[in-house]
Amino acid sequence: MGVLDEAFIQAPEHRPKTHLTNSGDYILSNEIPTIDLSSLQDPHCDKTALAAEIAEACMRWGFFQVINHGLSLDLMRRVEKTVADFFSLTLEEKRRVKRDEVNPMGYHDGEHTKNVRDWKEIFDFFLQDSTTVPATTEPEDTELRKLTNPWPQNPSDFREVCQEYAREVEKLAFKLLELISISLGLPGDRLTGYFKDQTSFLRFNHYPPCPNPELALGVGRHADAGVITVLAQDSVGGLQVSRRSDGQWFSVKPNPDAFIINIGNCMQVWTNDKYWSAEHRVVVNSSKERFSMPFFLFPSHDTNIEPLKELLSEDNPPCYKKYNWGKFFAARNRSDYKKLQTESIQIDRFKAA
Ligand code: OGA
Ligand code: NI
Repeated sequence: MGVLDEAFIQAPEHRPKTHLTNSGDYILSNEIPTIDLSSLQDPHCDKTALAAEIAEACMRWGFFQVINHGLSLDLMRRVEKTVADFFSLTLEEKRRVKRDEVNPMGYHDGEHTKNVRDWKEIFDFFLQDSTTVPATTEPEDTELRKLTNPWPQNPSDFREVCQEYAREVEKLAFKLLELISISLGLPGDRLTGYFKDQTSFLRFNHYPPCPNPELALGVGRHADAGVITVLAQDSVGGLQVSRRSDGQWFSVKPNPDAFIINIGNCMQVWTNDKYWSAEHRVVVNSSKERFSMPFFLFPSHDTNIEPLKELLSEDNPPCYKKYNWGKFFAARNRSDYKKLQTESIQIDRFKAA
């Protein structure tokens, strides 16, 4: 990635504000709630206070940060190191583990969000080394496909460290899922049945310095498709979140020892819009590269996503029609893979009339 190719240029209304304006359009802030998980170290702790904090954050922002989350900081530093080493390999070597039309996992440097190219390169791997997904996007086609991860030979510790990290982040994700269930007044294990064949994956994002950061984005505005996202990032910063109440963009102050948690589309549908799957984006800069590591907690391919019956009532009728997660996942992967004529599939398509 050298000079800015036309494919990266955002439409004027989506370009990031790189300076503070008088109207306060771009506010450097740490406004999303921070939740301290240290009480979870005690397995018998009362989770209701934490669940209340989470409910508030999920309704107002759909984003929060967790500290004292129980993951080893040493492990976080080790995975960051091996990921940086991987991205520093030659393009030729990285492309040996490149994703393709069949398997969306592996290395990729041509991702598009809403049909504009993102200023980044990525490496993705499934949490389950054999993950079952639909073979095609055709609604009537029930054929399935088992996918395995393409692992690079270098760095030599890459696979082992990444898998160790993935298992630990998964544990944190399920602790959060339990707290979210409790926060909705549901049993702590209400949602776990949807993950028997989970399609969750980990992504490593590398955002190189960009010659024209005012014209491009590291990731264009989007909401994550899954249940929740558990994201680690370095100290550079660049993530921005759109506030639910008015759509204003806020910068998230980076903390490399914390995780950013955000609600995905599935959770928004399950909760019938009570919890918010916020749009977010990544701005880039001309001097520093940036790394981030989102873990996308995704259900099994055969899960049908619809508002949870227990949360509905006469006053709260379902806002969404049922959709199949596997087919949604397959359709999304096609649209991320290359520039399409139309916008990629969004949950709005399943809004009830
Ligand atoms: C993503 C994403 C944010 C970041 O990969 O979906 O939103 O800070 N990443 O890299
Ligand atoms: Ni995202």
